[in-house]
Amino acid sequence: MASEQDVLDALRGIKDPESQKDIVALGLVRDLAVRGGEVTFTLAFAAQPPQTKVLIHSMASKLVGRLPGVAKVSAKMGGGAAAPQHQHGGHAHGGPAQGAPQGMGATQRPPDLIPEVKHTIAVSSGKGGVGKSTVAVNLALALRGTGAVGIIDADVYGPDLPLMLGTRGRPGMFDNRILPVEAHGLKVMSIGLLVGDREPLVWRGPMIHSFIQQMLRDVLWGALDYLVFDMPPGTGDAQLSLSQVIPLSGVVMVTTPQDVALLDVRKAIAMFQRLNVPMLGVVENMSYFVAPDTGTRYAIFGEGGGQKVADEYGIPLLGQLPLDPDTRKGGDEGAPITVRRPDSPQATAFREVARRVVERLDATATLRPLPTIS
Ligand SMILES: Nc1ncnc2c1ncn2[C@@H]1O[C@H](COP(=O)(O)OP(=O)(O)OP(=O)(O)O)[C@@H](O)[C@H]1O
Ligand SMILES: [Mg+2]
Repeated sequence: MASEQDVLDALRGIKDPESQKDIVALGLVRDLAVRGGEVTFTLAFAAQPPQTKVLIHSMASKLVGRLPGVAKVSAKMGGGAAAPQHQHGGHAHGGPAQGAPQGMGATQRPPDLIPEVKHTIAVSSGKGGVGKSTVAVNLALALRGTGAVGIIDADVYGPDLPLMLGTRGRPGMFDNRILPVEAHGLKVMSIGLLVGDREPLVWRGPMIHSFIQQMLRDVLWGALDYLVFDMPPGTGDAQLSLSQVIPLSGVVMVTTPQDVALLDVRKAIAMFQRLNVPMLGVVENMSYFVAPDTGTRYAIFGEGGGQKVADEYGIPLLGQLPLDPDTRKGGDEGAPITVRRPDSPQATAFREVARRVVERLDATATLRPLPTIS
């Protein structure tokens, strides 16, 4: 049976790449407990970049898991040292305090972390599984017709983008910054690219905040016309952090037609409105199914939900997308429908959504403030 000492000895084998000191000597290992076959500890990171945190977390879990008698390892990320980074990072933006008021307006936002990105679009929904990632990916791909596009997986709990875009390999480094991976002409960043297979990561609010900040600050995006964020479901820390870290040009709300989905979408719209983030419009996904043999159109999840919620908030319905086996397959196989069958009616529908999004971005005149030169 492993003792606390055995666990610490194993963890001494992991070095912080920057300081070249082991993580125990650096005091990163806190709250270590060994109970029966279960080992728990917290990695109290300070200013390490996200890829280092993730690599250390993954190595720590693996090394400890290999010790005799250890059945379960739960390594938390975060700890006391995570927060001060915002105050001592030496970066002008600093980032809002963890308890920043929710109603924080655009004028109070920190200066631009990504001055080379023209438009930032979040794809969100209060509800899970309605097709946010599918819409985010195909919207990003359709936007390529208008300019250079990047996409960030802000879904730290279930990063789906690597699978959906069929990305290969890990992000490289240049000049101490992370290079996004390229897939189908998009620049892509996801926590899933850093951890490889889905290792359970324990995220706390401040960690998400810091992760989102670093995805912007530490990733070399280059000049982009559009940066699309695939958001996790709900109205939690990721949504709040993102809207506080950068001035979002706008949000695309995804819903399915039925009333239960609308309840969550209303909650999400209200939250973004409180944060002064412009609503670009609503996309109704899985709106109808066209039977391939007869061509008959079926409203499987009901009808009119997207229009209803759009009217309610005075925002446009950006499009209605069919429930379609090829769209699902495209996501599962890493070749989204807009790439897989660019001439299909489904891909055309996505391009139409992208066209409206661009129109709406121009119309809402949400030109991001120019970076101030001091
Ligand atoms: N229009 C569609 N037709 C058929 N399948 C779809 C469609 N849109 C999404 N799907 C499928 O539904 C599932 C959920 O979609 P997706 O992952 O895009 O949703 P999500 O809202 O991002 O989910 P989560 O909340 O888990 O992040 C996926 O398997 C996806 O391929
Ligand atoms: Mg998703």
